[in-house]
Parts: sequence; C-alpha cells; structure tokens
Amino acid sequence: MPSAGARPAGVDTVVVLDFGAQYAQLIARRVREARVHSLILPYDTPVGRIMELHPKGIILSGGPASVYDPGAPRCDPALFDGRVPALGICYGMQLMAHELGGRTAPAGQREYGRTRLFVDDRADLFGGLEPRLLCWMSHGDSVVQLPSGFTPLARTDHNPIAAMANRRHLLFGVQFHPEVTHTPWGRQVLQNFLFTVCGCRPTWTMASFIESQTTTIRETVGARRAICALSGGVDSAAAAALVHRAIGDQLTCIFVDHGLLRLGEPEQVIRTFRDNFQIPLVHVDARERFLRRLAGVGDPETKRRRIGEEFIAVFEEEANRLGRVDFLVQGTLYPDVIESGTRTAARIKTHHNVGGLPDRLQFALIEPFRELFKDEVREVARELGLPDEMVWRHPFPGPGLAIRILGEVTLDRLELERAADAIVLEELRNAGLMREIWQAFAVLLPVQSVGVMGDARTYGHTVAVRAVTSEDGMTADWARLPEELLERISSRLTREIPGISRVVYDVTSKPPATVEWE
Ligand code: XMP
Repeated sequence: MPSAGARPAGVDTVVVLDFGAQYAQLIARRVREARVHSLILPYDTPVGRIMELHPKGIILSGGPASVYDPGAPRCDPALFDGRVPALGICYGMQLMAHELGGRTAPAGQREYGRTRLFVDDRADLFGGLEPRLLCWMSHGDSVVQLPSGFTPLARTDHNPIAAMANRRHLLFGVQFHPEVTHTPWGRQVLQNFLFTVCGCRPTWTMASFIESQTTTIRETVGARRAICALSGGVDSAAAAALVHRAIGDQLTCIFVDHGLLRLGEPEQVIRTFRDNFQIPLVHVDARERFLRRLAGVGDPETKRRRIGEEFIAVFEEEANRLGRVDFLVQGTLYPDVIESGTRTAARIKTHHNVGGLPDRLQFALIEPFRELFKDEVREVARELGLPDEMVWRHPFPGPGLAIRILGEVTLDRLELERAADAIVLEELRNAGLMREIWQAFAVLLPVQSVGVMGDARTYGHTVAVRAVTSEDGMTADWARLPEELLERISSRLTREIPGISRVVYDVTSKPPATVEWE
C-alpha cells in the first residue's frame, strides 16, 4: 500500500525502460547505488505516463531482440525529442539509432565477452576515463550508420560505432554493458550520464526514505492496527521495525517458529523485537505441529505445500485472537513486484513465501519496500538499528531447512542439518565472506557412504556444501571458496557432528541447477 510516496521530496528520478528484464534491474540498481532514484517501466509505457514522473533522464536497457525482428519491442520515438536526456544501452542504442533514421545491421563479427574499446571523445559520457578500456559486449547487431546529428564517441576492433551522441538533444548510446561488473568503469559512464548529462543530484538515501515512509504509513494507518509476520529474515524484520517507528504499539508482530530456521534465529528474533525494540510480539512455538505435518513426506513440492498450509493455519489462529486488525505488513521487494508484473516464467518451484496469506484474511497491505532492492533494505535495516547479524543474513527460503534435507524431515535429521549449516555459516563469517556470498548452506543428502574413523569402518551421512554468488538469485555462480576454508568446513563437519562421514562441495551454477537442492 504505501509505496506511491516512496520517493521523498527533493529526490530526482531516472526511468529505466525495460527491454529484457535482467538488464533493466541491474541498471536500476547501479543508478540507485549512485544515490539517484530509479524506476523500471515496461518499454511500451506511454510517453505521457513517463513524463508525469518528471524524470531527469531515461535509460533504455539492453534486451535479446533485434530491431528488425517482427514484433521487436519498441518505445515511443517521442522519447527522443530532446525534452529528457536519454541513454540507450546495447539494444537500447540500436533502437535509438533505428528510430532516428540510422541503420543497424548484423555485426560482421559477433562481439561477446571482454572487448577492447577505444574512446575518441571524452567530453561528457566518458569524462575522467582512459582512452583505452576493456568492456563487456554481448551483441549480434551493431549500429552501422549514425542518424543525423549524431557523432561517434568510441570504437572497437570490429565496430566503428561502439558509442554515439547527439549533444543537441542529449541523446547517447553505448553498445557495451556499463551495468555489469565485468565493465568495472561502467559505473563511471552511468554516473557521467546521471550527473553531467542529466544534472541529477545524489539525494536518494535510505535516511530520507525512512522519513518519508514513516509519514506515509502513519497517515495511512491512523488509529487502526497492523500485524506483521516475522520470518527471521531481514526483509520482514526491517519492515516491522519501520512500521513500528511509524505507529508504535499499534503494530503487533507474530513470529511462528516452525522449527525449520537456522541455529539461533528464533532466539535472536525474540531478543531483538521483544527486548530491544519492545515491539508487542506473539511468539508461537509450532515446532511439533510442523514436524507432524512433515512426517513421511519426501517430495519437495508436498513439503512446500504442507508447510505453507500449516503456516497459514497457525497465523490465522493467532491473528483471530488479536481482535480487529486492518493492516498486514509485508517485506515484499521490488524484484518480486517487477517479476510478477512482467514475467510469465515457467514454474520451476512453488516459491511459497511465508507471509503470503490468503485473501479471506481481508487485510490491506503495507509493503514499504515495494520499490527497494535487497541491498537498500539492508541499509534501511542498519539505519533502523537492527543487529548486524540480521542485516547481513543470507536469503532463506520460506520452507526453511526442510528443503535442505533431501527426503523425509525427522527431528534427528533436522538437528543434524541445523548443526551442519551453522558450521558452514560460522566458518564463512570467520573468513569475512558473508557479504560476498549470496547464500551458503549445508544440504543433508539421503546418501550414506563408507568412511573410516580411528581404526573403525563407519557408514554415515553425506553433506553437500553449497555456496553461490549472485545479484538477485535468478542466476547464480558456484563460489570459488578458498581451499583452506573448504578444508576447515569439511574437517569440522566430520569431527563435530557424529554421523557425518563425507562432505562434498557443489560446483554447479544456476542454470542449469537451482540454488536449493529441492
Ligand atoms: P532456487 O532454488 O529456485 O532459489 O534457485 C532461488 C532463491 O529462492 C529461494 N527459494 C525459496 N524461497 N520459498 C522461498 O521463500 C521457497 O520455496 C524457495 N525455494 C527457493 C532460494 O533460497 C534462493 O534464494
């Protein structure tokens, strides 16, 4: 609900037009990292609607299409009339050139990956950068003839127009991807566009966001009451802390401990919210109830469904006990909002988010982070004084450790998995790698293998260690953890947890694998 007021007064906005979802999100994040507010809109958003937002600049993302494809995504060419500065990236540049009378054609040689770039004009977009750079390319088409009024800014060995500008209308295009980490100086190009070309001010801060949200939430809720389901993760924790800042004890938090959380999490939730923040907290110990529902279940989707149903049942019982409540606080993030609005991806797993509640509960939603990325929520959490451990907690699936125990979840296997997971995280924390790694955990496999301890033969459990790097969880790469760290994890797992006799490291990326094993 309160999200329209997400842009605090005095904050400039840049619109990112989405021609291929992944790229657009990365660009929007880079813009925000430069402290400029950004919004992603579908490529065919009418110009009138875009102008209502008074953007200081527009960035056209890359995308998989060719401008000559039938049905290729197009934006309204009125965007290029010079009212608002625009930057086209890859497909965005090709489209800009195409719409304005230039020519795009399949490149003589496809450029993919690290490519040498020669910059001939460093007046604005390439200001402060070296004349020779390495950039990241991924394109089949290139601009082969500039539209009138444009000049080339940079070239590669195979492409004489790798960047272009029409300074009269403040239109720019780059063939490479400045938003990806493989183009490390790309941030400078984006910042040059934002600050030198568009004249943006770096005023998008989480402190101002918190201020404006506090006011909006207070006005929306008035004297009524709200509840929030805490999951132990940073999103719901920060949402609760923010709403509590706005409405105080009109907020009640419900923490359903389903017993599937990581080691020490339930205690920390209670300590932080009840003791430190003094937020009214209902703590439901539902551990046995969930274990009963999971007895005999091995299929991952059945686990997810049962945990989801049980969660709703427990939550509903508790909510009903509280009397009249009008609002439900949720920690929904911007990527979820964009995904549900723009994607029709095949369902690979049912991602039940604990907190996704049925309509019959009749709450209005308060989702203060509908416009934030994960790193921004972490900053909000830090500003609000949540403990570091919670702020930097890795994303955690709603069904918890249940989907990291392959096969049936029994109390013994759950405790074994929880202990193994704690060792992986503790070692990662000691190595100072928590922030670099997107997610790391142990998976208990339904495989026993032969080992030898002392002089005796053992026949124990196998644990897989998974650690991935990622920007958003949509794609992920297996983390190249230092060998010494892997060795420490492996020896601690086998030494400290009776019954584990073998440890393997998962070296699969997503795709083709997924982050979780189930
Ligand atoms: P996968 O395994 O699909 O995971 O590559 C991508 C991200 O989603 C998390 N995940 C879930 N989150 N309910 C959730 O709330 C689920 O059922 C679920 N399954 C996976 C996973 O931890 C990763 O961050």
